Amino acid sequence: MKTHILPIEDISSVKLCAEQIRSGGIVAFPTETVYGLGVSAYKGESVKKVFEVKGRPSDNPLICHVADIEDAVLATDELTATAKKLFKAFSPGPLTCVVKKNSKISDEVTAGLDTVGIRIVKPEGARRFLKECGVPVAAPSANTSKRPSPTTAMDVLADMDGKIEYILDGGDCEVGIESTVVDCRGETPIVLRAGKITSEDIKRVCGSVKIAGSTDEVRSPGMKYRHYCPKCTMYCRFEKTDGLQDKINELAKKGEKVVLIGNGETKTIENVEHIVLGESVEDFMHGYFSSLRRAEKVGSVIVCYIPFKECEAEGLYNRATKSCGGNLI
Ligand code: TXA
Ligand code: MG
Repeated sequence: MKTHILPIEDISSVKLCAEQIRSGGIVAFPTETVYGLGVSAYKGESVKKVFEVKGRPSDNPLICHVADIEDAVLATDELTATAKKLFKAFSPGPLTCVVKKNSKISDEVTAGLDTVGIRIVKPEGARRFLKECGVPVAAPSANTSKRPSPTTAMDVLADMDGKIEYILDGGDCEVGIESTVVDCRGETPIVLRAGKITSEDIKRVCGSVKIAGSTDEVRSPGMKYRHYCPKCTMYCRFEKTDGLQDKINELAKKGEKVVLIGNGETKTIENVEHIVLGESVEDFMHGYFSSLRRAEKVGSVIVCYIPFKECEAEGLYNRATKSCGGNLI
């Protein structure tokens, strides 16, 4: 199968891809977080193909994407007050609200759960595409399972070439890490997956918040799997640069080619190839996944330095800890 990359600004490409979705095909499309691998949430057989193409365990549910809050009714009959509050505050944006699913959403999307994650995406082109589809578009991130999520059409192509027919190209994703997933069934929202919108942000809107723990049953099924891994060994260091130079010297001595992902502060570290993501949490989220894909091409070991505190960068802590498989310096 040839994989075509089409510009999302081109309305005839959008119409063609929307027709693909309605007739059961798979289309990769951009969102403000990462690219998604889209399929009609109403077509169970087609949804199964997405799990196959991605190599994803079938017990891990997919998020449904819609163009605006009015279209949430395509996926649920019970948009709770909590979901409405959060959508009002953060949508369109990097937020997924989990509520009761309606009967049209196929069981393959939700992995048999009676709930569905709903997300209202931000980029105009993506919203036009979703409106044109007229159905909720179920989509996991458009990477092969376990790999870093794709933030450009070329990243999608690297994993999906020959496996899907169309990629809608909307350029670089603004946020760079996946949405915050929140269980909105009750009065108190429960954060199932961290993202750019922090639990503090959610608390400010709803008055209270819970964070699902690792043994918690309500936890996002996806959180139990190994995720976001580069092809080579990776280490992480949070908050302080202490110990970085020693670790890098030790690796270099063993003949490893080390790539250091960091900020201005880490530029003075020697024996490494540098990738500088910037200085802010936003810079780090934006460049994180693409830097892993870049670094694995030139190095044999990746060291990633995250200069922030956990409370200000929950999403990054979660992604980086998973990427390195808990290899902390
Ligand atoms: O930003 C994003 O969320 C991106 C873009 C494409 O929208 N999508 C994404 O999808 O990251 P995926 O499939 O890679 O991750 C979805 C996460 C998983 O951890 C999954 O377990 C959780 O959301 N999830 C989906 N539906 C759920 C549900 N009904 N209940 C609990 N967790 C759910
Ligand atoms: Mg994913």
